[in-house]
Amino acid sequence: MKKIRIAIQKSGRLNEDSLQILKDCGISIDNGKDQLKACSRNFPLEVFYLRNGDIPQYLRDGVVDIAIIGENVLIEKGGDISIAEKLGFSKCKVSLAVPKPVKYKDVTDFEGKRIATSYPNTVVNYLESKGVKSDIHIINGSVEIAPNIGLADAICDIVSSGSTLFKNNLKEVEVMLTSEAVLAVSPLIDTERQLLLEKLQFRIQSVLRARQ
Ligand code: PRP
Ligand code: MG
Repeated sequence: MKKIRIAIQKSGRLNEDSLQILKDCGISIDNGKDQLKACSRNFPLEVFYLRNGDIPQYLRDGVVDIAIIGENVLIEKGGDISIAEKLGFSKCKVSLAVPKPVKYKDVTDFEGKRIATSYPNTVVNYLESKGVKSDIHIINGSVEIAPNIGLADAICDIVSSGSTLFKNNLKEVEVMLTSEAVLAVSPLIDTERQLLLEKLQFRIQSVLRARQ
């Protein structure tokens, strides 16, 4: 019998809650993060621990069948991948922020400005829809430091508690999107695994109902 292959975040903000929801679904997983792959003892499921940003490509290639991933990452890198279920945790925003002392009027203030971000597609699409053209600098982490070191005039990144913005003397000026963890599905999932997905989704739905 085939197993359904699920990708979850290897480390970071989604990892724990992703494992927890599987656990709440009655799925026990042997071992965890130290191995990049693990199996369930009581459900035909294999877990792959992957880097967030790589997950959309794994889904697209059909190397994994499903994934628990932030909607924000799917919007940035996997617009073509479908969502089976919103999971209600890891809620965040993807926002534009500027140094606190800067006077901000509206989104046209970003015209010609340098924006540091790990979400280039999201920013460009957002600004383009407003007729604004900026200079995008792609950075993979610690984006909020960019204005302080003179690398950029503004940043675009995830905002959760807001404490990273606060500590770096930045203020949120535009919320481009809101996001939460979702269950995403590979376009290449086969019929046998589709049935396993339905079983899993049934369990997830009861867990989510019980959490309300
Ligand atoms: C993430 C994100 C923001 C911060 C938002 O960074 O890139 O910087 O968390 O959370 P907050 O609003 O609760 O402060 P993370 O700490 O994961 O590190 P990274 O940017 O280096 O990947
Ligand atoms: Mg960060």
